Amino acid sequence: MFLKKIELENFRNYSSCEIDFHEKINIITGENAQGKTNLLESIYFSSFIRSFRTSSDKEMISFGKDHLRVCSSYSKNGETDLVEVAMDRSGRKIAKINGARQERLRDVVSDYYVVVFSPEDMKIVKEEPERRRNFLDREICQMSLSYFESLAVYKKLLLQRNSYLKDEKIDEALLDIWDESLAKEGAKIIEKRKIFIDKLSLISENIHRGITDGSEVPEIKYCPNVEWKESREEQEEYFREILMGSRQKDMMQGNTSRGPHKDDLDIMIDGVSTRKFGSQGQQRTAALSLKLAEIELIKEEKGEYPILLLDDVLSELDEKRQRYLVDHLENTQLFITAAELPSEIIRYFPKNKKIVIEKGTVKQ
Ligand SMILES: Nc1ncnc2c1ncn2[C@@H]1O[C@H](COP(=O)(O)OP(=O)(O)OP(=O)(O)O)[C@@H](O)[C@H]1O
Ligand SMILES: [Mg+2]
Repeated sequence: MFLKKIELENFRNYSSCEIDFHEKINIITGENAQGKTNLLESIYFSSFIRSFRTSSDKEMISFGKDHLRVCSSYSKNGETDLVEVAMDRSGRKIAKINGARQERLRDVVSDYYVVVFSPEDMKIVKEEPERRRNFLDREICQMSLSYFESLAVYKKLLLQRNSYLKDEKIDEALLDIWDESLAKEGAKIIEKRKIFIDKLSLISENIHRGITDGSEVPEIKYCPNVEWKESREEQEEYFREILMGSRQKDMMQGNTSRGPHKDDLDIMIDGVSTRKFGSQGQQRTAALSLKLAEIELIKEEKGEYPILLLDDVLSELDEKRQRYLVDHLENTQLFITAAELPSEIIRYFPKNKKIVIEKGTVKQ
């Protein structure tokens, strides 16, 4: 799969812009604050219908404008799909594929695959669990429609439950009903996360060994807040028990203390937690192998390589890791941003398109 072209209207500092892309390598340069990351964000938006930088999507609409529009042409299985996404100031989003309005935005999310790798992702190993949960959710949503749906329902239920827990008078029979649904969706989420992490761990093992010439053996470990159980039924039942057990505490705190919204994962190297004990180099390697594994997994599950957005990340890697990355991305369309690209990077990618961005336009 690759992106042939994008058209932007009122997207951040792009008022109107049309860009054709190279099938393989696109090198996006320009001075600071000209719109390089904005362009990657628009590509991400065309597939995920949200930003990778902010949870407030409306920030993507150009200052003073009331809506934005991103129109992208994806080449997939030899055909071209036109994906059009628009959003207004109220946050309302509309998506069309080849002119046909999509009632469910999730159909777009699970049809076009984009992976982003930014300096922020380098911190994934070390930073707060929320970042790792976001990573899990983002990637599994891309691969599984049913996960996307379960997650949406779970989050809604959780919000309702939390708000109800803050009420003066609580009817526990009502909480029973909530807990029932929460356990049902939660069990599905835990199951999918476990499967995803196990697969990712297997793939990343080879990659990590490759980067470190076999000197390190990694394992991605799922750290569920509610212990993982072999079967869905058992999981549901167990989660319900846990919710019941923590109900008094939850009522006192006005919050749901247990569940997959508190999950985490850890990357172990030779059995030791990278999050707690890893050196900076090990954390970088772990982040890189996680990203590369994610790409391979999408290929395995979807039969297509995703597009990879590398935002200012190459310069963060040493030559060996750069080399490894480049050698393992032959089949992936790349969008690489950098203020200035050192000549060795141009050498890695002899065939490429250079796009210079200046104040939200392509410099001719
Ligand atoms: N909603 C918006 N409307 C108009 N302009 C915006 C909007 N959001 C951000 N900008 C502008 O976009 C610019 C930043 O663009 P971007 O983050 O893409 O820069 P960059 O080229 O990646 O720079 P750097 O090299 O520093 O990473 C800022 O000048 C900012 O004011
Ligand atoms: Mg940037």
